[in-house]
Amino acid sequence: MKNILITGGAGFIGSHLVRRMVRNYPDYRIVNVDKLTYAGNLENLRDVEDAPNYTFVKADICDEKAISRIFEEHKINAVVHLAAESHVDRSIADPLSFVQTNVLGTVTLLNIARHFWKDLSGKRFYHVSTDEVYGSLGQEGFFTETTPYDPRSPYSASKAGSDHFVRAYGHTYGLPVVISNCSNNYGSYQFPEKLLPLFIHNIVTGKALPVYGKGENIRDWLWVEDHCAAIDLLFHKAKDGSTYNIGGWNEWKNIDLIHLLCRIMDQKLGRADGESAKLISYVTDRPGHDMRYAIDASQLEKDFGWKPSVTFEQGLEATVEWYLANPEWVNRVTSGEYQKYYEKQYAGR
Ligand code: NAD
Ligand code: DAU
Repeated sequence: MKNILITGGAGFIGSHLVRRMVRNYPDYRIVNVDKLTYAGNLENLRDVEDAPNYTFVKADICDEKAISRIFEEHKINAVVHLAAESHVDRSIADPLSFVQTNVLGTVTLLNIARHFWKDLSGKRFYHVSTDEVYGSLGQEGFFTETTPYDPRSPYSASKAGSDHFVRAYGHTYGLPVVISNCSNNYGSYQFPEKLLPLFIHNIVTGKALPVYGKGENIRDWLWVEDHCAAIDLLFHKAKDGSTYNIGGWNEWKNIDLIHLLCRIMDQKLGRADGESAKLISYVTDRPGHDMRYAIDASQLEKDFGWKPSVTFEQGLEATVEWYLANPEWVNRVTSGEYQKYYEKQYAGR
């Protein structure tokens, strides 16, 4: 019997992963621990909340007592760790909260796992991380699993710190750890502070589309379900101590991606061609904005045959359709605190 603790399971990627694990592994117990920050939302998990193999506990991963109680009560023998502060712009405004959750929270979890797992056989600590730890690429080349770390934002520095601690616990204490570093995810249930859901929301409501700098930065985009399929595969099959890069082989210059999104939105909303693109507004760049991320995901394909399952056009269209079909979700998460954040982040830029 696997009793799996998934942290951050009420967030964007976490909710997709929880759903997948609860449905695909009825003989596992899935315990979702989430602090329910602004980014965590139990509505994301309505369809699995009554499943017999699923439990939700509201707790902070920095709270040693609460997490220890969960390990004890549920006989946790595996962790998939996603809980984090995840938005780069917020990390620029408030770095310390990123150190708190991403570094101290991760080390707290590692300590608890180490304490409870006296016998390490059959145990697994899977850490979900980002390609941003590798820094920024020029026009050529890809991040591989051996690219040296060069984090450049408070967010990526905190994720790099957490990766180093996870690896250090593997080397020093023999903890059976696995790390994956993934590129930009997109899909349903993503909080509308991130580029795609923010711009979809702004197009629907006729607000400006704030493109940072010249819009020339490049990101690699992967459908969230494909990321979760890769995590599932690696969680079950990767060797202890291994690291894998996960990416979509799908690089887009921001401004090209935004024009593609605008075209899809015009079609879906029955607006004239070019209508949404009129909302594009170039604003002051993000400080320290990494120019290009690109993942070489060939190791994952070579070892386990993993490949993205959908084309970007298919995934993006399905994503747009989901946001348009779920206005109540968007309205709820963009009310209250979101308004204050938006004002602070974009006013006078
Ligand atoms: P998210 O911000 O949507 O969700 C994070 C979740 O963690 C939320 O539910 C939040 O409530 C919870 N959380 C935050 N602090 C917590 C704490 N102290 N204790 C317990 N729960 C807490 O993030 P996401 O985009 O789903 O990212 C999930 C993970 O994947 C993160 O570790 C992120 O670094 C990593 N990642 C994200 C992407 C991406 O494109 N979104 C890409 C690669 C890696
Ligand atoms: O690469 C993986 C990372 O992708 C994850 O680790 C992070 O958790 C996730 O947030 C994401 O980081 P980015 O900074 O790449 O994502 P974001 O959606 O914030 O921005 C994508 C690109 O769009 C980036 O180049 C900045 C730009 N951008 C973003 C926003 C929010 C804009 O031009 N305008 C905006 O308003």
